[in-house]
Amino acid sequence: MKKILLGVSGSIAAYKAADIASGLVKKDYEVTVVMSDHARDFITPLTLQVISKNPVFTSFQDEQQNWRPGHIELADESDLILVAPATANVIAKLANGIADDPLTSIYLASRSPVLIAPAMNGKMWNHPATQENVDKLISRGVKFIGPEEGMLACGYEGIGRLWPVDGIIDCVSETMNS
Ligand SMILES: Cc1cc2nc3c(=O)[nH]c(=O)nc-3n(C[C@H](O)[C@H](O)[C@H](O)COP(=O)(O)O)c2cc1C
Repeated sequence: MKKILLGVSGSIAAYKAADIASGLVKKDYEVTVVMSDHARDFITPLTLQVISKNPVFTSFQDEQQNWRPGHIELADESDLILVAPATANVIAKLANGIADDPLTSIYLASRSPVLIAPAMNGKMWNHPATQENVDKLISRGVKFIGPEEGMLACGYEGIGRLWPVDGIIDCVSETMNS
């Protein structure tokens, strides 16, 4: 069974992580969810725990059962990292090697393929700071899924919507089968 690490960050689109986790489980992937602290404002760890059928990691305090740091174990065990939704903040942290929570630490400690599905306000997405971070990650082999154009939760029309859930799941399957 291939293992997917699903990173969820603090976007209004975080509620869609439940559908992403569910779709991946239906495709027979073993899914472990790692949430940023801010993601918990938008969806509960309990929801994602039940849907993924695995414990959810939200902080380094969740790692106390084992002598081996849980984030290193997850980094070694995961066949693919999917960050969906990815905020401007988490993209910036990943691009710059900041590792101040389990998700960003796992990213640094892993050598598996990484897919990022961003979701944010269009001006945040188009800001040169975000675009430079995206380019940096792409140059290191990270693949971006979207974002797409449409009506955004912040009330603006434009680019920044999370890519459709089915498309994200197809992208995971394609990457795992390539
Ligand atoms: C209601 C609300 C919705 C938000 N939606 C987004 C979003 O879609 N994308 C984004 O990049 N930031 C969004 N933010 C801001 C992030 O939550 C904030 O930058 C936070 O620091 C992200 O932390 P994380 O990347 O560790 O999850 C939103 C904030 C609020 C209060």
